[in-house]
Amino acid sequence: MAFIFNRQLSQKLYAATLRAFCSQTTGKPYWLSKFPDGQVRSFEEIPIIEERYDARKIHEVSKGWFQKYGHVVRECMTDGTSCVHLYHFDDFRTVYYNDGTFPRRKSHRAIKQYRSERTDMYENVGLGAGDGAEWWMLRNLMAVGITEKIIRSLHPSLEEVADDLVKMLHIAASEGDVNMLPWLFRWAFESIGVVTLNRRLNALSEYLDEEADKMVEAADLTNEMIALTEVDWANYEKHYQRLVPAQDYMYFVILRYVHEISAKGDSNCVVKTLLEQPNGSVKNAITLTMDIFQGALQTVPLTVLMALYNLARNKQVQDAAREELTKLLPLRDSKYFSIVKNFKYDIPPYLNGIVWETLRINPPIIGNRRVLQEDLILGGYIVPKGIHVILHQQVACLLEENFADPLKFNPERHPSPHMQHLEYVFGARRRICFGKTFALDQMALVIAKILRDFEIVYDGEEVNMINRLHNKPEVPLYLRLFPLM
Ligand code: HEM
Repeated sequence: MAFIFNRQLSQKLYAATLRAFCSQTTGKPYWLSKFPDGQVRSFEEIPIIEERYDARKIHEVSKGWFQKYGHVVRECMTDGTSCVHLYHFDDFRTVYYNDGTFPRRKSHRAIKQYRSERTDMYENVGLGAGDGAEWWMLRNLMAVGITEKIIRSLHPSLEEVADDLVKMLHIAASEGDVNMLPWLFRWAFESIGVVTLNRRLNALSEYLDEEADKMVEAADLTNEMIALTEVDWANYEKHYQRLVPAQDYMYFVILRYVHEISAKGDSNCVVKTLLEQPNGSVKNAITLTMDIFQGALQTVPLTVLMALYNLARNKQVQDAAREELTKLLPLRDSKYFSIVKNFKYDIPPYLNGIVWETLRINPPIIGNRRVLQEDLILGGYIVPKGIHVILHQQVACLLEENFADPLKFNPERHPSPHMQHLEYVFGARRRICFGKTFALDQMALVIAKILRDFEIVYDGEEVNMINRLHNKPEVPLYLRLFPLM
């Protein structure tokens, strides 16, 4: 049954539709080209996919669904619910602009379970896993904790961490091709230690540090288990049981650091600020610190890895980027943050283009999710409140309809007219990624540092990606790093 557009829709739905219209340059919904009669179709009329597929290949499979069925596709889940896959930026916008006071995202089931079963350690389930008023309270607390001012004040220490990574890469490169991801992971881990706790965690030390190694291992295992508990439901319990000791270990180490900060009272870092807030208990400080570790540890290193891979495969781009950097940082020990004082305005344009082009072609995640808070018209179909939707940012960014020659790695296309859409890689509105500023700041810093010190070479096959919550190379990605004079 088709609904007549404008007449039979409820006022609320009509208002949401109007808001969606306003987002479009033509003022007309894009789906009128598919449904020129202007009639809105029912939920049941959305094309359905029934096939079973390999969740690790979701980024490829979902592109196939778009090619076969169009911008809106419905997947019937084994538990009887439906999930709607979306591929058009206008629909993403409609979803974000109607996601209510407390936007909902179904994710982090294992973290939710772990924290809600440990009320002696946690007051709530946290930012990523939480919902409703409790989530909003934490969100506001985090807004005071991780500010641009704090991050800026920590720039010298963050640059030291990046310099230590480069030192370690010199050692690693002297022994052959470098498996980059574990190093980038350690760098991200160390940087988060600086921001949250204002201390070095020794993950980039030349000397063995048992606690640092165990923390890195626990953080890595946690991420792996969060991913597996989301996609491999049949073995949920087995994966959850592996997550528990890793989380326990991280919790007790961070607890000790938090107590040290609260006793010292003089360090400048996220935890210190959190503890000073009226609702900033030790429990909340730990929850948010753990959330920052989780949010940053895969996304940032994976994006940097793919940026380096793209640079290695596009020598001209690499040379142009280095030329820009060499002018700005003439000496090997020139300080990056002496030129990039404000990440929003000062990041060298070509370097900035490299970051955004990587986020366009090789984002660390396929997109974002929401549970609809009201009925919406998406792609010309009515999608009811309560339905889980997936916003396929990665696929949309690789469509010719949005970006000319979409597979070409071309930093010069940025800032592109689609910038506002490209930024959806960090989500949007009230629930937007908390680490967006920090992530952009850090990625540009470390790419600049590596490019300034090494020529990057890759002459292997094109890497195949798999998705385990995050997009990652199927096999370790080795790059050859030639130290520059
Ligand atoms: C390339 C890097 C990153 C990407 C692409 C990314 C992407 C995202 C996305 C898409 C969301 C969901 C937003 C929404 O629902 O609207 C999110 C949430 C979140 N991110 Fe990031 N992120 C990145 C880096 C970081 C970093 C560095 C941190 C920590 C410093 C971080 C912390 C978080 C947290 C805490 C949330 C949960 C926010 C909430 O639910 O209120 N992320 N991120």
